[in-house]
Amino acid sequence: MDSMTFVLFGATGDLAKRKIFSALYNLFLDGKMPNSFSIIGLGRREWSDYTFQIHVEQSIKTFSRRSINNSLKMEKFLDAFRYCSLDVTEYEGYKKLLETIERREEQLGLPENRIFYLSVAPEFVDVITSNIKDSGLSSKKGWKRLIIEKPFGHDLKSALELNEKLSRTFEEEEIYRIDHYLGKPMVQNLEGLEFSNPVLKAFMNNQYIANVQITASETVGVEERSDYYDQAGAIRDMFQNHLLQLLMVTAMHLPNKLSAREVGNEKRRIMEFLRPLGNKGVITDVIRGQYVSGEIDGRPVVGYKEEPGIENSSTNDTFIAARLWIDDALWSGVPFYIRTGKRMKEKLTRVVIEFKNPLKDLNMLQHDVMTPNLLVIQISPNEGVSLQLNMKNPLTNQIEPISTEFSASPKNVPEAYELLLFDALRGDSTFFTHWKEVELSWRWVQPILESFEENSLPLHPYRSGSMGPDASYELLQEDGFNWWDL
Ligand code: BG6
Repeated sequence: MDSMTFVLFGATGDLAKRKIFSALYNLFLDGKMPNSFSIIGLGRREWSDYTFQIHVEQSIKTFSRRSINNSLKMEKFLDAFRYCSLDVTEYEGYKKLLETIERREEQLGLPENRIFYLSVAPEFVDVITSNIKDSGLSSKKGWKRLIIEKPFGHDLKSALELNEKLSRTFEEEEIYRIDHYLGKPMVQNLEGLEFSNPVLKAFMNNQYIANVQITASETVGVEERSDYYDQAGAIRDMFQNHLLQLLMVTAMHLPNKLSAREVGNEKRRIMEFLRPLGNKGVITDVIRGQYVSGEIDGRPVVGYKEEPGIENSSTNDTFIAARLWIDDALWSGVPFYIRTGKRMKEKLTRVVIEFKNPLKDLNMLQHDVMTPNLLVIQISPNEGVSLQLNMKNPLTNQIEPISTEFSASPKNVPEAYELLLFDALRGDSTFFTHWKEVELSWRWVQPILESFEENSLPLHPYRSGSMGPDASYELLQEDGFNWWDL
């Protein structure tokens, strides 16, 4: 792996504290950082290098999945960190930053390979990338990469504009758009699962599959993010990015090679074959919900409209469910159901693939006593795969579902940010979101955004602690199915 400089914008912020420092530290412990590297943290506060290093250490102590048990290693790790205070809107500061970077490159004998990680509010992305270019930070002698967080735009128009601006400084191959769902180990495992199990590959099509259900439910409410969330809603916060990415990786055809380009092409194909909703589709295939008061883990919680910072008149969506159709040869006729929401019964991300029941099609009586075969992929918090089959119980002589299972505890599994940063460090963009996917996702959700804006779709209240509004169950019942709330 090439030696490099990691320039972190937003180094005093929440994401750096919770995720980024710990991810880098765990990579360092696993010998997955380059031999030589320099990390420059940037923030508005006037901190010394020492204050910054203490902050990094404290953050790791609080948030890392592994504790610090080797202080010498920690010392060596912290030694790579330097701090530079910067008002990102002021061009002059970038000159000082360039000096700091070059000084460290010289001291450590580093080539001019630079990663710029933008962990900042979206409105600063444009000015930062322009300043990176104008100040000469994006050197020509080594490689440069840009890592950015979601949200990538607020709708199709703003995403197109943002992309146009970024492309003035960075080539598409140099841009690593993080969708942390793609960093979840089980999501990264999905292709491997099919690749190494021809039996799964053989069955993953409309001949055998009845429907596919993708759920990402959360127990938390809006928390302290009312300003952002009341503008974004579940559609922008989760659906347009994380959920559509899960759809793409679940449904994509296996490429011949697992390279970034091939995987990207296959994911894009899925989006291209996704049937556009149009105005009618929004009404028939999309359910919008908002939580009212209820109980989470035995504790009473208030409704969305009573949350601090939320107006009583808010029509923001905290839940969305949708029925999607991929009109290609493999999936045509198989409904994909997706749902996500806040303040639901449990925190989980899961894909359930329901197999067809041929007895049902033949109208045979036994189908009543049989549960369909299910392939269940648990993505988080626990990871696992299970296959539910049916077997006659010799004691009762009844057909009963049995399940073969693999699962792993989250403690032993690397975090999403570790896997993603490792990939970005070595220049592998397979598990990052490519521009075409972003564009096609916004295109697909655009009619939903418009109908939410016009408030032309019913807003179904659902009790906190439930799995969403009744209407989201009725959506599946129309097709003779039910959500598998396992
Ligand atoms: C973020 C959303 O992208 O994902 C949050 O902005 C959400 O609202 C979070 O809570 C969920 O991520 P995870 O990994 O906890 O499922």
